[in-house]
Amino acid sequence: MISLVLVCVTNKTTNMRSFFFFVPMLILHCLVASLAMTIVKNITTDQSALLMFKAHVIDPHSVLANNWSISYPVCNWVGVSCGARHRRVRVLNLSNIGLQGTIPPYLGNLSFLVYLNFGQNNLYGHLPNELGQLHRLKSFGLEDNKFSGSFPSWIGMLSKLQILSLRNNSFTGPIPWSFYNISSLKWFNLGFNSLSGTLPNDMCNRLPKLQEIYLHSNKLFGQIPSSLSHCTDLRRLWMSDNKFTGRLRENIGNLSKLRDLYTANNHLQGTLAPPSKRVHICVSMLQNSFRYVLYLVQKIC
Ligand SMILES: *[C@@H]1O[C@H](CO)[C@@H](O)[C@H](O)[C@H]1NC(C)=O
Ligand SMILES: *[C@@H]1O[C@H](CO)[C@@H](O)[C@H](O)[C@H]1NC(C)=O
Ligand SMILES: *[C@@H]1O[C@H](CO)[C@@H](O)[C@H](O)[C@H]1NC(C)=O
Ligand SMILES: *[C@@H]1O[C@H](CO)[C@@H](O)[C@H](O)[C@H]1NC(C)=O
Ligand SMILES: *[C@@H]1O[C@H](CO)[C@@H](O)[C@H](O)[C@H]1NC(C)=O
Ligand SMILES: *[C@@H]1O[C@H](CO)[C@@H](O)[C@H](O)[C@H]1NC(C)=O
Repeated sequence: MISLVLVCVTNKTTNMRSFFFFVPMLILHCLVASLAMTIVKNITTDQSALLMFKAHVIDPHSVLANNWSISYPVCNWVGVSCGARHRRVRVLNLSNIGLQGTIPPYLGNLSFLVYLNFGQNNLYGHLPNELGQLHRLKSFGLEDNKFSGSFPSWIGMLSKLQILSLRNNSFTGPIPWSFYNISSLKWFNLGFNSLSGTLPNDMCNRLPKLQEIYLHSNKLFGQIPSSLSHCTDLRRLWMSDNKFTGRLRENIGNLSKLRDLYTANNHLQGTLAPPSKRVHICVSMLQNSFRYVLYLVQKIC
């Protein structure tokens, strides 16, 4: 901003009168121009972001080929819908159409996006940091692709997120601490990746709205968070095929909405309290050593 003003000023210093007249005008002009350059995003921004995405992917069934064209309004493009009030792209839903390629940083400009689904395609590569700008996002689905790299820490910036699915990709490394800042989260599926590291003990104090947790088939280790009893809406907890150790606490039986508890192929032990009549918990015992597990097993799975 400062440098822009100076450039404008030095062009116009021919005499003092015009200098004093022009300087305030020029500052105003430069201010307006630079604001327009940095802040204004509109449906044209969304259109270029989507065309950038189209240019980054192979579209083997030509779903986007003739449809995503500047001859038609963006809001009528396949897989796209816009909000009624702002007329900006609100939904981008492109699941199961065979797309191959990478995600360009331009998608971070879809600043009104609430729902993003790229599930069941052949997309790969790292997710660009710019997606952390999608601060209105509530649902983010990337399942059954080939994305890789570490679990993106910018996901913690998506503070309205309720649903996150990264299932069946090739994400590696620990779940970053910022993830546990998304207190609106109801449902996450990180199954079938190569995530490692531990879960924080206060997980359910930070994410108390969780209803479904899928962590199966990763390389997670350490103890099951002792705060689990604070996830009072929990219905499903899938942890099988990891390296969890220690005790599964008795108070898990107090989670009255819990339906599925999959723990197979870990190194857990514990004394589980009998569940209430309503609960239909499905516990798998393989590779664990629960005592009193028969109280819980109403269905062997
Ligand atoms: C969007 O903003 C750009 C300037 O940033 C302008 O040129 C364009 O006409 C605008 N498009 C619409 C549809 O308002
Ligand atoms: C693009 O696809 C949408 C959704 O299938 C359809 O409603 C629209 O008519 C298509 N547009 C063109 C120009 O084919
Ligand atoms: C996205 O597409 C799927 C499959 O076509 C559909 O079931 C789902 O309702 C769509 N979601 C939205 C928000 O449009
Ligand atoms: C959109 O995003 C790209 C890359 O992240 C950036 O270079 C560009 O200036 C952004 N803004 C607009 C209005 O397209
Ligand atoms: C994972 O996704 C691939 C496609 O990328 C699919 O072929 C495979 O069946 C999926 N695996 C699971 C366990 O869902
Ligand atoms: C989580 O949120 C708190 C408060 O909003 C903030 O101070 C902290 O830096 C965030 N942590 C991470 C890892 O993003």
